[in-house]
Amino acid sequence: MPDIQQHLAVSQKVSIDDLDWAAARAAGLSERERANLEFFADVESQTFFYFLEVAKLQISRDPDLISFLTMWNYEEHFHAQAISRLMAECGCPVPAAGSRAAKLRTSARLRARLEDAFQVSLAKAMPQTFVALWMTWGASQELLTCQGYESLVNTTNNPVLAELARRIGKQERRHYAFYLASARERLEGDRVAQRIVRAILERNWNPAGSGVKSPAEQAQFVANLFPDPVATFSHADERLSALPGLEGVQPGMRWLRRVSLATGAAAPAAAN
Ligand SMILES: [Fe+2]
Ligand SMILES: [Fe+2]
Repeated sequence: MPDIQQHLAVSQKVSIDDLDWAAARAAGLSERERANLEFFADVESQTFFYFLEVAKLQISRDPDLISFLTMWNYEEHFHAQAISRLMAECGCPVPAAGSRAAKLRTSARLRARLEDAFQVSLAKAMPQTFVALWMTWGASQELLTCQGYESLVNTTNNPVLAELARRIGKQERRHYAFYLASARERLEGDRVAQRIVRAILERNWNPAGSGVKSPAEQAQFVANLFPDPVATFSHADERLSALPGLEGVQPGMRWLRRVSLATGAAAPAAAN
């Protein structure tokens, strides 16, 4: 496990008290930004449910893992809150993050139950492999999330959105570093875990939010958020490929092809 103390030492709720809300209101949000931020808020607010699923498993009783999961869930919770605040200030409020998160989860209950049953079985039968998978999966999601916030920074005309996305993105980078280092440790020298993780990534990988968003909604989001989805997803694939036993994996590119974003037939982007 990477040194959790380093992460705990810098962990904090993303600070928003010093942001210039008047400047945020004056700059406003484009329709595309509004849609992207709503998606981000929805996905961020689901972290608690993933946290619950993994926290009830025996395998997560490791003290360092408990520390990390608690810190991670805490930080993600405030990402959703901060985004909701910015949207409200800019005149496009989303319903309270908590109640919206629960509602989204209810509508995704069947899928969530299936995911849960699979997780519980794998975690019971092959706990080491389950943690290796969870960490690898997490690394890929956190990296895409970093890239997403960086894309918001680079494309917005709203200085407050840019600053908030920069602050959140910094925390996402730390999450990514932790997940990646943990995945590397867990996969190193474990041929069985390497084979299973590779197979599941290749067959079942989806960007974060698949429990509460349809593939079409996810494709629309990716097309709106990233100027060049192929460059973004292939970069993420390359990072995963550097992990032990995962050379050449391309879960991101496979997903892009499945949703027709890697063939030139991109979903129509929302008006800016
Ligand atoms: Fe987040
Ligand atoms: Fe994160």
